Amino acid sequence: MLLEPAEVWAYLIERGLIPATASGAVREVGDGNMNRVFVAVPDDPDIPSVAVKQAPPWIQKLGPSAPMSPERALIEARALRTFAEYAPKQTPTILDVDETRFAFTMEDLSDLTVLRTALNEGAELGRTSAEVGELVGRVTFATSVAGADPRARAALITQSVNPLLAEVTLQYLLGDPFVEAEHNHHHPSLAGAVEKLRRDPAVRTELATLRAAFNSNAQALVHGDLHSGSVMVGVRDGEPVVRVIDPEFAMVGPIGLDLGLYVANVVIAAVRSRNTAHLASIADCWEAFCAAWREGWPDRVDPLLDDGWLVRELREVWRDTLGFAAVEMVRRVAGYSHASDLETLPDPGPASAIVLGLGHKLLADREICGSRPDPRALAHLVGTSWEAQQ
Ligand SMILES: Nc1ncnc2c1ncn2[C@@H]1O[C@H](COP(=O)(O)OP(=O)(O)OP(=O)(O)O)[C@@H](O)[C@H]1O
Ligand SMILES: [Mg+2]
Repeated sequence: MLLEPAEVWAYLIERGLIPATASGAVREVGDGNMNRVFVAVPDDPDIPSVAVKQAPPWIQKLGPSAPMSPERALIEARALRTFAEYAPKQTPTILDVDETRFAFTMEDLSDLTVLRTALNEGAELGRTSAEVGELVGRVTFATSVAGADPRARAALITQSVNPLLAEVTLQYLLGDPFVEAEHNHHHPSLAGAVEKLRRDPAVRTELATLRAAFNSNAQALVHGDLHSGSVMVGVRDGEPVVRVIDPEFAMVGPIGLDLGLYVANVVIAAVRSRNTAHLASIADCWEAFCAAWREGWPDRVDPLLDDGWLVRELREVWRDTLGFAAVEMVRRVAGYSHASDLETLPDPGPASAIVLGLGHKLLADREICGSRPDPRALAHLVGTSWEAQQ
């Protein structure tokens, strides 16, 4: 049964999430493409408001002509529960999961703003990148070979299989932007650069490597869609608050996918506003990620994993981060789903050219930022790319 706004109140009472006697209002807040999100606010301020997210058996924006398994809502709720176990600070509280209706109810985050919107309006990142890095670090350490024993990982891998959403990523992130495809579009000034990128054999080999990593590297539980539209930010009781939402693409996959998507979108926001503080926050994200791994490291489940392996593993993660960041940069200017950061500029051409150029450079040679994890080298590369355009 698909919920309409008028039915949500009765639904919440039926699920025991709001007292039967309470009155209040429901509004639809979802501006996403895939699902519906409703917020229910009781008139009694002592009763907490809640948000309900339901996955229809199709892509919400396209309707029944675009079927998509509603199971994704349950995958998302399960991932959020795992995130809450290891990174409760950055995870919305889940109050109820309804397996029959492919819906779940969570903490109302209406007082927060989607990070992409906040950045477009000129906000600074503050601690956001560190909070995201900490969440990714804690969740991935706990679900990696260092944090979870083989049996626990086998169970996690089995329950996190997410082939339909993985297909979406393979097509729209790691496929179509690199070939001629129906839904691709780009700024007219980029025609030459897009064609050059698509023909570059070094890019094709790197893309193949990333596709293979996405398909086969069951490194840890990842969010799978961790761009700035999946992060909400705000202030509560005078303290900055960061919440990571929407892990419907969650799977056991390469950690660099999450860090790369986040980093690419920070880069895109930085290019939009020529904001070097945004670039500096990439190091905050990486350092918080590494700190979470180092924090878990003394309690690793496999004592044969030695310090040398840790150094190697983190180096691999950074390498993947650059690779997945690069494909995300390309996707956001030459694929189907563009970034409002660029699209809302009076002329998206020049900033889009920078982002595409960076994606191309990183794919052609990930060592361009050195062979060791060095987020400052990446920030420097981005900064020089816009200085060169002036
Ligand atoms: N718990 C919440 N409380 C308040 N608003 C929320 C909550 N969760 C999501 N939203 C709002 O609904 C929007 C859509 O949510 P979300 O990104 O989870 O949905 P989606 O349909 O999966 O989106 P997408 O098409 O980007 O995958 C968010 O951008 C945010 O504005
Ligand atoms: Mg989503």
